[in-house]
Amino acid sequence: MPQTIIEPFRVKSVEPIRLTTRDERERALAEAKLNVFRLRSDDVLLDFLTDSGTGAMSARQWAGMMAGDESYAGAPSFFRFEAAVKDLTGYPFVIPTHQGRAAERILFTVATKRGDLVPSNTHFDTTRANLEYAGAEAVDLVIPEGLEPKTRHPFKGNIDLAKVERLLAEQGPRVPFGMITVTNNSGGGQPVSLDNLKSYRELLRRYGKPLVIDACRFAENAMFVKLREPGQESRSVKEIAREMFSCADGCTMSAKKDGLANIGGFIALHDERWVEAARNLLVLTEGFPTYGGLAGRDLEAIAIGLEEVLDESYLRYRLRTAEYLGEKLLRGGVAIVEPTGGHAVYLDARAFLPHLGREQYPGWALCNALYLEGGIRGVEIGSVMFGKRLDDGSETYHHLDLVRLAFPRRVYTQSHFDYAAEVILELAAKARTVRGVRIARQSKFLRHFTAELEWD
Ligand code: F0G
Repeated sequence: MPQTIIEPFRVKSVEPIRLTTRDERERALAEAKLNVFRLRSDDVLLDFLTDSGTGAMSARQWAGMMAGDESYAGAPSFFRFEAAVKDLTGYPFVIPTHQGRAAERILFTVATKRGDLVPSNTHFDTTRANLEYAGAEAVDLVIPEGLEPKTRHPFKGNIDLAKVERLLAEQGPRVPFGMITVTNNSGGGQPVSLDNLKSYRELLRRYGKPLVIDACRFAENAMFVKLREPGQESRSVKEIAREMFSCADGCTMSAKKDGLANIGGFIALHDERWVEAARNLLVLTEGFPTYGGLAGRDLEAIAIGLEEVLDESYLRYRLRTAEYLGEKLLRGGVAIVEPTGGHAVYLDARAFLPHLGREQYPGWALCNALYLEGGIRGVEIGSVMFGKRLDDGSETYHHLDLVRLAFPRRVYTQSHFDYAAEVILELAAKARTVRGVRIARQSKFLRHFTAELEWD
């Protein structure tokens, strides 16, 4: 029987990739102030900046777009969207938003106050920033293995229950709810086990605290549970996903990931506690509660995407993609976060560029080098993203400097990944030539998006 796990789709519509020379890329990166976020995407060959909103929609989704109803209030597209979210999550209250961070901002505005502490395995950058903006503190409590790139563990996204218990015992009144990110994006796209979710829920319940899932990649997480968690192998991923949601009181979701859509998100809640306040804020900044900043056609695309993403042949191919690139890199001696996660491969930049100190931002330097070498755009998950310049001019650093190569869903083929592996291995052979960087200009929040850098 053939062993190759093929892309379980064929291509009906194509987009050209513009091939560039190294000279052209040198110029483009200099114009972008050494920040790949500032590049024009047609100067990029393989765009692994993010898996968010970059996927290819199916023929069924495009057909759904045509059927989208653009009525301001009460459009059938909203009811199809609402039914799809309810069917998946079991939560009766569904609030559409234009993307995940809008869901976060609205929920945190109504559910947190200044001085609150919100634990999670690892908050993603926008989640952390939205909590901080609301005056709350984001507390990352992933298990120790989740912080060690080379340690293998089937569920490196699990939250450390002993640490959560300590936080609740010592600071309980300051904790409005617990969160958990599935899969744990900032920690390598690593899954959370059902067992961990259930124990976390029980622990929070003992202290009377609700649980909110950051559900961006729920389907990839559910597939990992099926493949890795004892006793789960014969269940459908849909059943597993439903059980994940049943462990929590609500979720925030970016439909740009496992919604298989180019834009969209939602808050879904099990009870009414935050619903009215959230809808009031929604009307103020996103839109009427039956569209929440989205077009009717977007709601259709998400409704269909939430169904398609649970197709197990798709998920098997999806997880295999990262594993396939990971295997090639490991064989070539490149250090990555192991095992590979669901949506991305994470290169360990400190191991790749041992000649650079952390103040030379090795993750950022590696990102730049990958672009120059092969036109590949990844993203630094390290000290530019998570470090801070303090008021006294000193810097804080992240505990890891990683480069995430995140894979748009249903977009690139196996030869694109073969090319990526070649580029990375060629760069590894001359890693010592890669220069560090320093930050020349930065903003106070989410500085990585706009920062200007210089060669060190
Ligand atoms: N939570 C997680 C775990 C995410 O990965 C993201 C986005 C968000 C929330 C926010 O959702 O972008 O729709 O506002 N992650 C993207 C990424 C940007 O590249 O990983 P959004």
